[in-house]
Amino acid sequence: FSCSFSVQELVKEPMKTIPQHYVRLDQQQPVPSAYGARPTQMLPIIDLNQLLSAEDFDHQLQKLHSTCKDWGFFQLVNHGVDSRILEKVKQEVEGFYKLPLEEKMKFKTREADVEGYGPTERDGGKFDWADRFYMTTNPIHKRMPHLFPELPSSLRNTLESYILEVQKLGEKLLSLMAKALKIDEKEMMEYFDDGLQSLRMTYYPPCLQPELVMGFTPHSDSTLITILHQLNGVDGLHIHKDNVWVPVCFLPNALAVNVGDILEIFSNGVYRSIEHKVVPNAEKERMSISFFINPKLEAAVGPSPNLIDAHNPPLFKRVSLDQYVKGFFSRKLNGKSYLQHMRIHDN
Ligand code: SIN
Ligand code: FE2
Repeated sequence: FSCSFSVQELVKEPMKTIPQHYVRLDQQQPVPSAYGARPTQMLPIIDLNQLLSAEDFDHQLQKLHSTCKDWGFFQLVNHGVDSRILEKVKQEVEGFYKLPLEEKMKFKTREADVEGYGPTERDGGKFDWADRFYMTTNPIHKRMPHLFPELPSSLRNTLESYILEVQKLGEKLLSLMAKALKIDEKEMMEYFDDGLQSLRMTYYPPCLQPELVMGFTPHSDSTLITILHQLNGVDGLHIHKDNVWVPVCFLPNALAVNVGDILEIFSNGVYRSIEHKVVPNAEKERMSISFFINPKLEAAVGPSPNLIDAHNPPLFKRVSLDQYVKGFFSRKLNGKSYLQHMRIHDN
């Protein structure tokens, strides 16, 4: 394999210029103002503890609702995930990326597959400035035998406890969102129950010219919701809000949550799946773990019948999740293009 299999390895060598296959002239942004880059914005805060306390429940639920409509992205504090688990996940993922390349290569992405450890290729033979490890975690029988079960045991055990925590959290959030959307909670929970779940551990090495590359190409998530843990506190996430790219930050130990395409579809366009991207840091490495929550495999992706009536026609088609996921992965990731493909167009 060539050295560029891993960006982490690549940056160990002295480098004067960024190799061409990472240079993203297609992604260059006009300088937003005469004063340079846009200031970093704090993601809106949702306090789960407060939200679940009975006192001003309606008010807090309304806040969650408007945040999912206007931002599609928020940070969750008092989320109930033990800070020791968050710290352990950080250490374990860091530990994994510190392993010699040969060890990591045991999990290398296989031909014609999306799971495993490896680089991320984009349109035009370009690559993201990141190494990633992507794998399905649920339903259990969908775990690939050479990935999750073969992980170093301390990483595997830590991920198992982390997964239980974020699953619980995802369930709470989805039931609250169902309430806020005024859809049948049972319908939402049946949708979620034993759903397709996956995770992605991503390592973004520092980049001497971050403005030339993409740590993660702009995209919206194909999920119901995604829970993101920015492991080592290095920012770099940008969201596309009101037509501009905004760098965002969040509080230490907060978890970021975003609405994915399937929830935008399920809510018939009420909630918004926001495009986002990652720009690497000039000096520091950045690490994150994204947990992707989807409906169950037998489910259909489409607008909730609860939200459709004579005044609110369905805005999206209905397809099986299986078809949906296959369609998503058969394309190169490109902004919100797959969601557009699901839209019912007026003739
Ligand atoms: C992602 O979109 O899953 C990447 C987010 C991140 O690394 O912050
Ligand atoms: Fe994403």
